[in-house]
Amino acid sequence: MKPLVNRLSYASVQAQDPLRLAQDTANIVGARVVGEEGGAILMSSNQRHAEFIIHKGAENLFRACGLEAVSAGAVREVRDRARAAGLTVLSETPSLACIDHSVTFATSEGHVIEVHTPMPQDRPVRFHGPGVHAKCLDHLNFTARNPELWAREMSAACGLLLTERTAGYEISWMRAADGRHHTIAAVKGASGVHHISWEFNAFQDFRALGDNLAIEDRRLVWGPGRHGAGDNLFLYYRDSAGFLIECIAEMEVILDDAAPTRVVEPGENLSNWKVVNQWGHLPPLDWIQHHNRMVEVETCPT
Ligand SMILES: [Fe+2]
Repeated sequence: MKPLVNRLSYASVQAQDPLRLAQDTANIVGARVVGEEGGAILMSSNQRHAEFIIHKGAENLFRACGLEAVSAGAVREVRDRARAAGLTVLSETPSLACIDHSVTFATSEGHVIEVHTPMPQDRPVRFHGPGVHAKCLDHLNFTARNPELWAREMSAACGLLLTERTAGYEISWMRAADGRHHTIAAVKGASGVHHISWEFNAFQDFRALGDNLAIEDRRLVWGPGRHGAGDNLFLYYRDSAGFLIECIAEMEVILDDAAPTRVVEPGENLSNWKVVNQWGHLPPLDWIQHHNRMVEVETCPT
């Protein structure tokens, strides 16, 4: 069946120093502050109302992943399917005033997912400001103790399609209705978030990304390179709150909903370079072991 969600909508986090994180996100990926709501800072890199939402918190934690439903009816269907799958429905109240309908549920590992009617496109698409000006927020990569179960839950609730996985489910990549190779993914580890990814126009943008980090004596965590899964260009750095940020370009698009799941061998410690980086440079342990914790919520028993 067709996925019930079209694309990634937003990522929300909490940070000890929200203003510093907003400034850092502006300086590097070029999203700008577009407003505040409920004490949170809203940021967007394009015309979308909000893509990155920063709350104030005692610790730096990931809060929620917003996914845009294909219709209002799809929001209701996600609610019913999440319940039928035994997942905890946390709320049916939209997290932002601009969202008409939503349902928020938690995976069995505590990933908070808000599926909602489309985010209004009410911001100017072009704007002045620092950074490289990403095109959009692109995908989220979670960490999960059981990525196989995580993928089954996301398929059951949202109809997401498992595009590709490694043989032992060390990493699973799932696509939405827009056909991009992955909109959400999970890498095996303690429950949490591995990285937040922004899409850029071209590889040429990576030059300024690296230079802007070097101004502050900050290094890249991994890359630049080209992933095997997704065929996308990538580089990774850590932001001021310790979240791992990926910058990508050229993600593969798969429009065949019936395309079979690809199964690839990862090699020990993701050493199969044809899967992880077609250019050959393997991920450092720093990348493999990265993990950000999440705000804790009620979850169904596993
Ligand atoms: Fe990624």
